[in-house]
Amino acid sequence: MKKTISLFITLSILSLHCRGQEKEQNNSLLEQLPHHIKLSWETAPENSQAITWRTRASEPKGFVEYVEATASPFFEEHIKKVRATSQSYTMEDGLWYYHSVNLQNLKPGTRYSYRVGDKGKWSEWSEFSTATGQKEPFKFLYFGDVQRYIHSLGSRTLRQAVLANPDAKFMLFAGDLIHRGGLNTENWNEFFPAGGWIFQNIPIVATPGNHEHKWAVKETREIVPLWDLNFCFPKNGPKGQEEQTYYMDYNNIRVISLDTSAKITSEQRKETYVWLEEALKNFNGDWVFVAFHHAMAGLARNRNPHIRFPEIKALLEKYKVPMVLTGHEHLYARGRMEADFPIYAVSVAGPYQNAIQFSDWIERAGTTMQLYQEIYVSENQLDYVAKTVLGEVYDAFTITKKSNGELQFEEAPDLPVESLIPTKDFEKRYDKELVKSYESDKIKYLQRKKQ
Ligand SMILES: [Fe+2]
Ligand SMILES: [Fe+2]
Repeated sequence: MKKTISLFITLSILSLHCRGQEKEQNNSLLEQLPHHIKLSWETAPENSQAITWRTRASEPKGFVEYVEATASPFFEEHIKKVRATSQSYTMEDGLWYYHSVNLQNLKPGTRYSYRVGDKGKWSEWSEFSTATGQKEPFKFLYFGDVQRYIHSLGSRTLRQAVLANPDAKFMLFAGDLIHRGGLNTENWNEFFPAGGWIFQNIPIVATPGNHEHKWAVKETREIVPLWDLNFCFPKNGPKGQEEQTYYMDYNNIRVISLDTSAKITSEQRKETYVWLEEALKNFNGDWVFVAFHHAMAGLARNRNPHIRFPEIKALLEKYKVPMVLTGHEHLYARGRMEADFPIYAVSVAGPYQNAIQFSDWIERAGTTMQLYQEIYVSENQLDYVAKTVLGEVYDAFTITKKSNGELQFEEAPDLPVESLIPTKDFEKRYDKELVKSYESDKIKYLQRKKQ
């Protein structure tokens, strides 16, 4: 009997050992293949498509093969091949090659199939569609900070949002996609698999957050090299801020990204405002969305509630920007400040949550929940819907453009009761006075809204 037990234990250990080895082998096999494949735009979405990915050092070259999509799998003879720009970069998890291609001269409103790789190591074929360049209704998704516990809990927001909206034209991230922008482990190595093959089909548009910048010395806020290595964004921003501050036109809308953490001089800051004004002035389409990471005013309960960017705020009001999409506060809020427009939205996709301070400008607040937003645009109407990770409507409103160009805001009726539960470990994480005053501040907020 003793012999049988010891044989059983030995076999079990051996089998565990083998399984461990097998897993390692599988992992390294996966690593040999192109991965972290994602779409973004560097130039016009109606005739170009940027594709980026990563490989191990054994695969220093990369190519994109692409073809107009057909239902037939026998499309070999029409395939075009483009060599990628490839750059090696050593990280805490080893040496990688980062590859990028910007496919150009594509047909508008056309579906393409593509794969990336080289020699025997190719990705699967995936599809993307170019923008039509026409005025027609479409929607996109907007996410606040994913940032922490991306694998375990951030991923579900991205996946549920796309499962519910497979026809979204792009996914807009308002910064802090990850927590430590200079690290792959627990950061980019969790973020890209969280989106998985979704990112191979739906382009990412992102504005950088403070966590995508270096924080070794607080004053030094250079963007991490992995931002440029992982993404291709437009280079039409002010000098030195390309791919961080930029605008991207998709059909009849313009998305402006402002890097509010960029390391710039006061002179460059002024240049940025001039650039922003020009980007607002010279747009002839229907809707402008301005996305930046830091909410216009601090909202987390232990933060300064001051207006962070008065010069930007003045421009947004002057040009009646309909919507501003932000994050950083790790909670949900929506409202207007001293002007009918813009509508400021603050949201959070990941599980890290902050308690709120009930600032006077908030028209709708939400805490302790993961959210995503669907934004529908047509020529004269914009519909905004914030949903919880479970797909329940949490906030919704419409902005209508009247024939004289005037904008009209209307909140949806019958929105659910606000979730205002302070975050987990609230008492431990916040100063006593902030904890003590929470209930009375909340009551005042709710009373103000009743009036
Ligand atoms: Fe954040
Ligand atoms: Fe942040």
